[in-house]
Amino acid sequence: MARAAGMFSLAGRTALVTGARTGIGRAIAVGLAEAGADLVLHGRVDDLDGVEAEVRKAGGQASRWVLDLSDPARIPEAARRLGPVDVLVNNAGIIRRAPAAGHPYADFRQVLDVNLDAVFLLSQAVGARMLARGSGKIIMIASMLSFQGGVNVPGYTAAKHAVAGLTRALACEWAGGGVQVNAIAPGYIATANTERLRADPARETEISGRIPAGRWGVPEDLVGAAVFLASGASDYVNGHVLAVDGGWLAR
Ligand SMILES: NC(=O)c1ccc[n+]([C@@H]2O[C@H](COP(=O)([O-])OP(=O)(O)OC[C@H]3O[C@@H](n4cnc5c(N)ncnc54)[C@H](OP(=O)(O)O)[C@@H]3O)[C@@H](O)[C@H]2O)c1
Repeated sequence: MARAAGMFSLAGRTALVTGARTGIGRAIAVGLAEAGADLVLHGRVDDLDGVEAEVRKAGGQASRWVLDLSDPARIPEAARRLGPVDVLVNNAGIIRRAPAAGHPYADFRQVLDVNLDAVFLLSQAVGARMLARGSGKIIMIASMLSFQGGVNVPGYTAAKHAVAGLTRALACEWAGGGVQVNAIAPGYIATANTERLRADPARETEISGRIPAGRWGVPEDLVGAAVFLASGASDYVNGHVLAVDGGWLAR
């Protein structure tokens, strides 16, 4: 294999992708398998037959780790069931939409639990074992709302800003131990997460009108960045938040 191509190979690596059942997580799981990785597919519930079949078709082995991340305190104990993980993709996430003035605190808290606390605790559990081995890759899934305020999603924006900060904080502590921590910030991607935006004609037109690429993203648009950040090609990339957004932030 040419040196440049080999740099991106994930052969012999095991990747854990959270929220692998649908959307971005599913596309990334299959993309990492296509690059040679074996997968640990995480789901909130054990409903992973579809993605497991796609991973196997792509040539990867697949096992499952089922855990509801809305109770993050369960993560340290549940993570003991995991075998060695070379690549962790913290993808699972939720969004709750309601104007800030009346935003239910329960929604705010729930989003923080899944999108931030769970990300920290799982990174800590898996990252400690990576540090003990002297290598590993952690990829966070950030957002345009790691940079911008958004509308009607105060908990989501707070969590995604924090995820960018956590990416940098962990990167600084762990780079010297051979563990690279980075994030991908997807633009507007057509998944269940953005269903309500796409169903609102005014918001849909407003959003697609400012995407320089002229279209919403699809989950497969994130695969190249994920393979890069999971592979040896990014061994000197630390604490970076990589926007994959069709130019949204450049506008
Ligand atoms: N779509 C976008 O435009 C966009 C933009 C920026 C960032 N993101 C981020 O990308 C990530 C993936 O989102 P998506 O767009 O692919 O939407 P999605 O299809 O709704 O995927 C979210 C995934 O997270 C899992 N999940 C949710 N709550 C969970 C819990 N309590 N425990 C365990 N797993 C849970 C879901 O599993 P179940 O379905 O089984 O609950 C699902 O597989 C999220 O972090 C999201 O914030 C998305």
